[in-house]
Amino acid sequence: MKFNVKTDDLHNVKVELLIIPLPSLKYAGKKFLELDKLCNHFLSRIAREKQIDGNIGANILLHSIDYVSARSILLVGTSKNGNCDLSDFKKTMQPCINQISKLKKKSVAIEIHQGNPKRDEFEQKCNFIFKQFETATYSYKKQSNSTLTILTNNSSNHSLVKIAKQGLALANGIRLTKNLANKPANLCTPTILANEAKKLSGNYKSINVSVMNEVQMKKLKMNTLLSVAQGTTQPAKLIVLKYSNSKKNKRPIVLVGKGVTFDSGGISLKPSSAMDEMKYDMAGAATVLGVFSALGSMDLDVNVIGIIPATENMPAGNATKPGDVITSMSGKTVEILNTDAEGRLILCDSITYARKFKPEVVIDIATLTGACVVALGSHATGLMSNNEKLAESLLKSGINSGDRAWQLPLWSEYGSQLNTNFADLANVGGRTAGAITAGYFLSQFAEGLKWAHLDIAGTAWNSGANKLATGRPVALLLDFLINSKFK
Ligand code: BES
Ligand code: MN
Ligand code: ZN
Repeated sequence: MKFNVKTDDLHNVKVELLIIPLPSLKYAGKKFLELDKLCNHFLSRIAREKQIDGNIGANILLHSIDYVSARSILLVGTSKNGNCDLSDFKKTMQPCINQISKLKKKSVAIEIHQGNPKRDEFEQKCNFIFKQFETATYSYKKQSNSTLTILTNNSSNHSLVKIAKQGLALANGIRLTKNLANKPANLCTPTILANEAKKLSGNYKSINVSVMNEVQMKKLKMNTLLSVAQGTTQPAKLIVLKYSNSKKNKRPIVLVGKGVTFDSGGISLKPSSAMDEMKYDMAGAATVLGVFSALGSMDLDVNVIGIIPATENMPAGNATKPGDVITSMSGKTVEILNTDAEGRLILCDSITYARKFKPEVVIDIATLTGACVVALGSHATGLMSNNEKLAESLLKSGINSGDRAWQLPLWSEYGSQLNTNFADLANVGGRTAGAITAGYFLSQFAEGLKWAHLDIAGTAWNSGANKLATGRPVALLLDFLINSKFK
């Protein structure tokens, strides 16, 4: 996806679709009036006739207008006096977004005037429009480049351009996350994920990537991670990304993304219906890569480490069996009662590994439990944390970005569900509170760290006829990183 910021006269903009928000005619902007004059007042006449001007969301699509370079114009009513706040803006833009996806327009220009922009509001408008434009133009099968042009009265305004660029970085990050998550497991192995990470370090000088193989992981005693990889012929990888952009020696924020490129369940084999959707079990990893690609094109005063444990979970003669006891990298022992609860096994060693970076905070992102889908559906990501301030900032970022999370408790009472006579912890906690017992399991490896867990099992992709990755929670995490003042 590309974007431009321009101050061109409206008749000059060469795009497939030009969107013009129109307040009451007496408040119409100079550029609209010039264009209207050029068209013999056709635009204002039709706006009045169809009651478009000043009626939020009312719209009319016009084609092949004389003297206009754009192939089509969408006139859309916005708030009466043109001072539209974020919620008016969303209402104004919704029909435009629908038209973009219906008409499959790839090059679109939108007039956003900023009389006296409140920074936050302009930022949220930009992020909203880029995100919506990304959704409207996305197709996994037919990848094509789309361009969004923002027409403003002041393109030399440096901060405005910077904010708009941030919106573009967000949209491109979401797109990368979707593309990787949507890939079938045969085209998205741990090795392929590692190569995708290396591509990022090639594209952005602020990003460095290193990849560990199984021998190196063995040396670090990452045994619970390796116990998941045991039954597959695909070599597991531990991908480590570094975005070191703050000169202030700030402690890093560590993002850990679950990268199970296919989850068959292992010996505790899943039923076959919808098993294909377990190609999405690396959506946490894809989120981390999407966030890093956005970071690469932004100039944020933060240091971020990405850790991606990547493996398949498969049944085999040499696969881990229910009842096996494994000593994790932390020294804690785990009885594996269900090989399908594999996410927590690769994450716990990754959280232990994260300690070496002396992190400010650790956030893991994982398609961890079906129970989270039962609890929250597809609307909210499940959030659990051992630090209330951190939880609060993540919740706030969810609201800001429209990519919401909802907190679940981690009370110690839940911990007893993981007791076993054979190890420090069992890897499953029975039928009840499955999302929480999974989070609780992870919390046992995050002692002394500021840590949060995002269970994205319900939010990372849509099932059914509309099966596609959503790119969540890239927007939440980017908002968090941009505003990273959680202390
Ligand atoms: N990747 C799955 C979780 C999942 C299931 C996400 C369905 C989205 C939709 C995870 O590895 C898993 O299998 N979890 C088990 C845990 C159980 C064995 C305690 C689950 O949720 O059934
Ligand atoms: Mn599983
Ligand atoms: Zn899984």
